Amino acid sequence: MRWRTRNDNPLVPPARALRAAGIGGGDYVAVGCQFLEYFKDFASLGRHDAVLEIGCGIGRMAGPLTTWLQEPGRYEGFDVVRSSVSWCTKTISPRYPRFHFQCLDVANSLYNPRGRLRPEDLAFPFADGSFDVIIGVSVFTHMLPDAVSRYLREARRVLRPGGRLFATWFVWQADVPATEDALQLFPVDCDSHRVARRDKPEAVVAIPESLIVEIYRLAGLNVTRTVEGNWRRGVHALPYQDMIIASTPSTEAVVTGARDR
Ligand SMILES: C[S@@+](CC[C@H](N)C(=O)[O-])C[C@H]1O[C@@H](n2cnc3c(N)ncnc32)[C@H](O)[C@@H]1O
Repeated sequence: MRWRTRNDNPLVPPARALRAAGIGGGDYVAVGCQFLEYFKDFASLGRHDAVLEIGCGIGRMAGPLTTWLQEPGRYEGFDVVRSSVSWCTKTISPRYPRFHFQCLDVANSLYNPRGRLRPEDLAFPFADGSFDVIIGVSVFTHMLPDAVSRYLREARRVLRPGGRLFATWFVWQADVPATEDALQLFPVDCDSHRVARRDKPEAVVAIPESLIVEIYRLAGLNVTRTVEGNWRRGVHALPYQDMIIASTPSTEAVVTGARDR
C-alpha cells in the first residue's frame, strides 16, 4: 500500500483520535515517513528485522513501517494509552498480521495517571534477545530518569547481539549555557532532570547529558551516534528532539553495515 496521502490512507487516524492520543503537532504522515528514513539510515533497519516500539502511540511509526518490513520481519508495539492501542489493533493488525500492539497499565502523570504499574518495575513482556531494532520516539521525553534507566536495561535484555536502539531525548547540556528556548521549555530544575510542570512532571522531561550517558553505560548499550535536534533553538523542524542510536556489544559490522534495500 502507498503510504503518502491522508485521504486515501486507512492507516491515518481521524483528527479526533489523533487529538486524544496526545502525540503532539506536526503532519502525522510526513513525520512518520521521515522517521522511517532515520531508522534505516541511523539504526540500519532492515526489511526482515524484528522491531519493538516502546510508546507506539497511535501508530505514527507503525504505519510507515508496514511499507518496509517484510516476512520474517515483524513488529511489536506497546503503550500505556488504551484508546491508542485499541485503534492500532483494530486498524493495523487485521491488514498487517505481523504487527501486534498491546497496552500495559504503566503509570504516567500525563498519559496514564491511574496506571497500576510503576515504570521502574516494568519487565517488558518479551523474551531475551528477541528483537533486532527497538525504537522509542518521543517517549523517554515523557519519563523520569529512574524509569528510563529501567527501560534501557529491559531494551538491552530483549535486543539480540548486534541489536540497535533508536531513541529520542531532550538532552540537557550542562556544559554550555542554556538557550532562552530551552529554559522556556524546561523552567523547573529537579536536580537530576528538568521539567516544564511540577504538577505533571512527565508532561515533558529533559535529562542531563552526563546522566543519559551513564544510563546507557549501566544498561550495557554502546552509543554509536547522536544527532542534535532543533528544539534548543526553538525551531519546529525535524529532527526536533535529539536522537541517540546505541547498540548491544560486538556489533560494529552490523551497525555500520549496508542497508538491505
Ligand atoms: C508523544 S507520544 C509519541 C507516540 C509515538 N512514539 C509517536 O511518535 O507517534 C508519547 C507516547 O509515549 C507513551 N508513554 C508514556 N509513558 C510510557 C511508558 N512508561 N511506557 C510506554 N509508553 C509510554 C504515551 O502513552 C504516548 O503514546
